[in-house]
Amino acid sequence: MTAGGDASPQLTFTNHLGPDDVALALRADVASGLAAEPKRIPPKWFYDETGSELFDKITRLDEYYPTEAERSALQANADEIVALSGADTVLELGSGSSDKTRTLLDSFAKAGRLRGYVPFDVSGSALRAAAVELVRRYPSMRLDAVVGDFDRHLHLLPTTGRRLLAFLGGTIGNYEHGARSRLLRSIADTLRSGETFLLGTDLVKDADRLVSAYDDSAGVTAAFNKNVLAVVNRELRADFDLDSFDHVARWNADEEWIEMWLRSTAQQVVTVADLDLAVRFAEGEEMLTEISAKFRREGVESELAAVGLELIGWWTDPDGDYAISLSRKP
Ligand code: SAH
Ligand code: AVI
Repeated sequence: MTAGGDASPQLTFTNHLGPDDVALALRADVASGLAAEPKRIPPKWFYDETGSELFDKITRLDEYYPTEAERSALQANADEIVALSGADTVLELGSGSSDKTRTLLDSFAKAGRLRGYVPFDVSGSALRAAAVELVRRYPSMRLDAVVGDFDRHLHLLPTTGRRLLAFLGGTIGNYEHGARSRLLRSIADTLRSGETFLLGTDLVKDADRLVSAYDDSAGVTAAFNKNVLAVVNRELRADFDLDSFDHVARWNADEEWIEMWLRSTAQQVVTVADLDLAVRFAEGEEMLTEISAKFRREGVESELAAVGLELIGWWTDPDGDYAISLSRKP
């Protein structure tokens, strides 16, 4: 879809995920994940339309502090981030609703340097909803929305302008060590000399607060977690019974990450018709659906340095719960 003046369209939508593409990737992940020990489904499959809406609800829960902590760190420091970055174009990975990003875009606009914004997400529904708001708020900004998977399509991102690549929300924490360093490496490879990377990372803190952020009293996170089973049921003709799985959130102190699991409440066999598969779950057996790593400054700095990015800024919210870092490709 393209809207705007014919000579210079202000809004484009590019989709790198064909229907077959999504189906094949999900098939591969579910086939290997259900054969693994312990069983697992990767978190990128949470975000169909329902999952994206549930995630938005999570961000409004009192117990889920990262969203407001990140917003407050951004609000207090956006002008400095804009100045240090020297950028005129913002690319954002996993942009979702782009809600907090508006703080940053406002500062770019105030500085007279808002040329373009490229929200990039696996969820087309989240991107479409965000685009409607963004076009209204920034009528003279170029908006190039991209539906894609940042594990595979980073090299296809637009190259126009001097870019700041933002990765907010703590989504980097949803990657285990090897995958995380591969993703950081491909982010660093995407940037040109002088361009910058803005990263949001949730910080290590008291285990009780962490667990309640991922096991809220209203059960929204439980519904978000179980929604991945509904996605597999719909997309691969599986018959997971959502009521036969409990949501479990646990702090792993050795790894310094939260784990989300789905625990089978009974011995059961689940069939996945499109994979011609029957999978046995023992009573109490747990399937891993997400990790959410929490960070310390030294770790972030050294992981960035390992891919050749130099830390040039570090800011937290007033309570020190959450950090935003800015790094530059030399
Ligand atoms: N940045 C937003 C949303 C975070 S939720 C915030 O801070 O609130 C994580 C987002 O990343 C979701 O919108 C999800 O659809 C997207 N996402 C997860 N895995 C992805 C992948 N592999 N490629 C592209 N987007 C992905
Ligand atoms: C997107 N991501 C950073 C969220 C997190 O906190 O790890 C996803 C989430 N899972 C449960 N609640 C929120």
